Amino acid sequence: MESHVYHIPVMLFPSVDGLNIKQSGTYVDVTLGGGGHSREILRRLGPQGRLFSFDQDQDALKQVQSDSERSGITFCDGRTAASEGTTAPQWTLVQSNFRYLKNWMRYYDIDHIDGLLADLGVSSHHFDEASRGFSFRNDAPLDMRMNQRSGQSAADVVNSYSAEQLTSLFRVFGELRQAHRLAELIVKARKQHDIQTTGELVSLLSPALAPAAQKKDLARIFQALRIEVNHEMDALREMLEAATELLAPGGRLVVLSYHSLEDRMVKNLMRSGNIQGDIHQNIYGHIDSTLKPVGKAQNATPEEQEANPRSRSVTMRVAEKTEES
Ligand SMILES: C[S@@+](CC[C@H](N)C(=O)[O-])C[C@H]1O[C@@H](n2cnc3c(N)ncnc32)[C@H](O)[C@@H]1O
Repeated sequence: MESHVYHIPVMLFPSVDGLNIKQSGTYVDVTLGGGGHSREILRRLGPQGRLFSFDQDQDALKQVQSDSERSGITFCDGRTAASEGTTAPQWTLVQSNFRYLKNWMRYYDIDHIDGLLADLGVSSHHFDEASRGFSFRNDAPLDMRMNQRSGQSAADVVNSYSAEQLTSLFRVFGELRQAHRLAELIVKARKQHDIQTTGELVSLLSPALAPAAQKKDLARIFQALRIEVNHEMDALREMLEAATELLAPGGRLVVLSYHSLEDRMVKNLMRSGNIQGDIHQNIYGHIDSTLKPVGKAQNATPEEQEANPRSRSVTMRVAEKTEES
């Protein structure tokens, strides 16, 4: 691993404030990354409190474990922080896709949680670590898997999907006007030989992009492939449904999203209690939902956007569980 700042947490204080932390509560951070949000949650928990932090990328867990051990927190089973004396809340790291949230909570005997935070997408580490293939700025194998032990890579998608499938993912996940043209270029080029590296993909597709928008469009092409490779929309839907069930009445759900489709899912759920956004009204004409939004959607402040460009595209939403589902 190269030495760089793993990730600067986005909207750190507003998002952790949104959890409305009870000192003895049980919380889940489903996107550990560099551990910025998790550490702030721990700071606000008392000795009876509990935090579970998930990440499917082993780099995130390794980094947080070694940072924590350097500052005196030891992990007894490699994953659960030993509560030395009675002063530290219990902190459990889970290397898993967050779509399995319900299974893991069952495994740890947790029926209800008091809050869950999700800071979606990839961390800066993913872009900075050239060999992972997330960045169009470096030449590397077309990988883009957050969990390096699982499933298809970006090369598999690019070399095996039909023109229609590629068009659809560039259009839906990348919001690219020239989706069809990009798909055609890929299908034609791979008849000669497979496309194996980010550099090959960039050289192939760049001529089809307007020079003024080239970087933005390349970022969208890479984002679209990444979302497909990691099944990000399916995982988000499953996690949000599980979170809604697991939250105790009064429990909080805080989501930071960076893509309009993610945000739409979150907004639907928080308004209506279901991902589709179907509004059901009770006999008094009130929305019948187990979640209610807390405040409006928020963005990072201009100061944060200036200091951390990654925060420019974030939308934060908070909801509270109203009753048992
Ligand atoms: C934006 S970063 C989180 C940064 C973190 N909040 C911090 O302050 O450092 C998102 C992290 O979530 C992880 N991730 C994304 N989707 C995931 C999923 N479906 N399951 C588990 N981890 C996931 C990524 O590997 C990445 O490390």
